[in-house]
Amino acid sequence: MAIDHQMTPAGPAGQVLDPGATAVAHPNIALIKYWGKRDEQLMIPYVDSLSMTLDVFPTTTTVRLSPEAPADSVTLDGSPAEGEQRRRVVAFLDLVRELAGRTEPAEVDTRNAVPTGAGLASSASGFAALALAGAAAYGLDLDPTALSRLARRGSVSAARSIFGDFAICHAGRGTSEDADLDSYAEPVPVPDFDPALVIALVDAGPKAVSSRAAMRRTVETSPLYRSWATSSAADLTEMRVALRRGDLDAVGEIAERNALGMHATMLAARPAVRYLSPATVAVLDRVGWLRANGVPAYATMDAGPNVKVLCHRTDAARVAEALRDAAPGCSVVTARRGPGARLRTGAER
Ligand code: ADP
Ligand code: DP6
Ligand code: CO
Repeated sequence: MAIDHQMTPAGPAGQVLDPGATAVAHPNIALIKYWGKRDEQLMIPYVDSLSMTLDVFPTTTTVRLSPEAPADSVTLDGSPAEGEQRRRVVAFLDLVRELAGRTEPAEVDTRNAVPTGAGLASSASGFAALALAGAAAYGLDLDPTALSRLARRGSVSAARSIFGDFAICHAGRGTSEDADLDSYAEPVPVPDFDPALVIALVDAGPKAVSSRAAMRRTVETSPLYRSWATSSAADLTEMRVALRRGDLDAVGEIAERNALGMHATMLAARPAVRYLSPATVAVLDRVGWLRANGVPAYATMDAGPNVKVLCHRTDAARVAEALRDAAPGCSVVTARRGPGARLRTGAER
């Protein structure tokens, strides 16, 4: 990626200010889910996954080098990041610095339009934007594959948000070191499929158990995990055919069963991880009712209670109204396929 590294002539104290690099990335929702890592250090997933990047809820992240600072500074939505949130960003910057052969601390300012940690893929847009802005700020010239591989080290789902539209993330094969090279996302061209994804936000609050901790517990304790992983590979094969055909019913059916199966693995973990709330179930019932009444609509849920409903664009308003009615008080946002991560140019900053 090209690096736009203009220097503003003079700052408040007369010193040269680095404008840094600013990147924008959108969340993505998996139609075939990633759940479970075989190597937590290198962030290697057990399964392939396939997603649609959205045109809503962008993350905007600026990374500026601050050679004089004693340590990295990280601001998330205007407040200093603390604990695990800060640790993940600093560990990611350490990786970028290692790749770039640099040591300067950085100042990171990131803003999520999406609620953070609510099962709406903030870690995907967050680390895709940080990978792009961080690589540019530290002078790394990475192609999209290398950027996706890098983003995966922040959050596996972020590997897919480097790309717009539909993307597949390969789990990688062989040893962890081999898989580290082979695990990245790439676009899945689907020119004739442009559905709506109606998002019912039943609870925008942060989840009690992070995706990372929940999938760790699932892999370690759920007797259902392996059979879901096996059936997910078959789901992916069928999904690729359904997407090529632009067959919304087939895509929706496969996505819905893949997501429900993933939640079944969590429910069988010890202790159980349950993200689905009564409002989630009310929305799922309504999706079934829509289908029974001739409106093709299919649900998928991530690590949180919010439901995303795939439907034809022409049915989106009707689906949105039905979901609002099913979970009074919820807000409903209609998304479509959206763009890949991009750097802002000088003029836009
Ligand atoms: P989500 O469903 O929102 O992806 P996760 O549990 O996967 O939830 O990840 C949430 C975590 O991702 C946050 O607690 C934080 O550590 C990280 N994160 C979210 N947004 C950003 C961001 N813009 N920049 C850096 N890290 C982020
Ligand atoms: C249910 O990518 O958020 O949304 O890799 O630990 O950061 P980490 O987890 P994350 O997990 C996403 C899980 C999911 C399914 C998916 O997006 O594929
Ligand atoms: Co996440």
